Amino acid sequence: MSGVYMKLWAGRFQKEIDKKTNDFNSSITFDSRMAQEDIAGSMAHAAMLAKQGIISKEDGERIREGLAGIAGDLAAGTLEIDPEAEDIHTFVEGELTARIGDAGKRLHTGRSRNDQVALDIRLYLRGAVQPIREQLHDLIRVLCDKAEAHAHTIMPGYTHLQRAQPITFGHHLMAYAEMFLRDISRLDDAVKRMNVSPLGSSALAGTTYPLDRETVAHTLEMDGITHNSLDGVSDRDFCVELAAALSLMMVHLSRFSEEIILWCSWEFKFIELDDAFSTGSSIMPQKKNPDIAELVRGKSGRVFGDLMTLLTMLKGLPLAYNKDMQEDKEAVFDALDTVHMCLTAFVPMIDTMKVLPDNMRRAAAGGFINATDCADYLVGKGLPFRDAYKATGTLVALCIDKGLTLETLPLADYQEVCPLFAEDVFDAIRLERCAAMRRVPGGPAPENVLAEVERVRRLLG
Ligand code: ARG
Repeated sequence: MSGVYMKLWAGRFQKEIDKKTNDFNSSITFDSRMAQEDIAGSMAHAAMLAKQGIISKEDGERIREGLAGIAGDLAAGTLEIDPEAEDIHTFVEGELTARIGDAGKRLHTGRSRNDQVALDIRLYLRGAVQPIREQLHDLIRVLCDKAEAHAHTIMPGYTHLQRAQPITFGHHLMAYAEMFLRDISRLDDAVKRMNVSPLGSSALAGTTYPLDRETVAHTLEMDGITHNSLDGVSDRDFCVELAAALSLMMVHLSRFSEEIILWCSWEFKFIELDDAFSTGSSIMPQKKNPDIAELVRGKSGRVFGDLMTLLTMLKGLPLAYNKDMQEDKEAVFDALDTVHMCLTAFVPMIDTMKVLPDNMRRAAAGGFINATDCADYLVGKGLPFRDAYKATGTLVALCIDKGLTLETLPLADYQEVCPLFAEDVFDAIRLERCAAMRRVPGGPAPENVLAEVERVRRLLG
């Protein structure tokens, strides 16, 4: 290979790399998305080299101008990244040298691609997290709006997918808001640890040049520097942490998707998805399918796979840099892209879904989900809970036998099972009352839901 993209390591070699092997070795097809970060890192490095007198002020300025020109041309689309370059670092340095001559060749003083790539990926991921963070904010805002509108909407709460106790739909939605809030804090946490500069670690053993590492970190708006040159070039924990945070986010999206899929089945019919976020069948004219939710559920596996790729790639590596680590990028980029794509479809799908409160209410009324409240009523009349539980169980069996519900069973039947029952039992087991009485902090009562919505909105700012 000749010209501006000659291998950065050309001097020692008698032959060019085999063409197919070059493709195998190359990372330009996926690391070119870090072009702007690579340039920003190089600008900070060059400015520091000039400040420290390691290169001349004039060369420092030429490098800065040259890099700014490349950054601008890339952004404007007037400069194409050459797929022949081995990686984005080779491309930028080659292009710079082609533009400004010898000064370009001084840029790499006191630096290696090993600390360069470790910096680039940190900068790139730090930025790429932000749109996902925004999407999570949007999702939580949508959940708050829906929860507020449905603070009073009664639905059955489930355990084992069996109707269990009455809750409100707003409360159910706010459970997901909690998960997504934790996801945001996990993203922020991952960014905290990735936002330190490894530049100065050089290939593995630092450098003899008097670099000012802190200044470089400061210029790049990083919180500090890495403290061991071997760790600086070989740490990819932040990729694993980010992929783990994204994986857990996909678990939450997948669980939510599963519920959406159940809820829009005819068996539930608690919601209806907007036509814009549903698909039909090529053969069955009646079908309206929740493909988006299914795809989100399905794509969770990809993101877990990315996490496994990263863990497995790292687990047996001796210090310091090994080429295996080039595999970090496709995995963590795929995880980011997948989550971003999922949220892009998921948030408006939730925003536009139609809630069907009457169907929720009907499902809540059919499954004896107020049985605990019926037992609690007897406790209120002085009966020990265990006896109250047993009496209510007898009532449920009676209802099933007669094809009735606790609401429709005559008072005489109640009193035959336990004489403590009076007319007011029917108010005590009213679903709205059952939900409203669950006012314990964290409970589903409408007033709690509304307070939670306010608290979460305040948190989002
Ligand atoms: N493309 C490489 C990577 O992503 C850049 C670092 C190359 N360093 C080296 N010594 N081969 O890891």
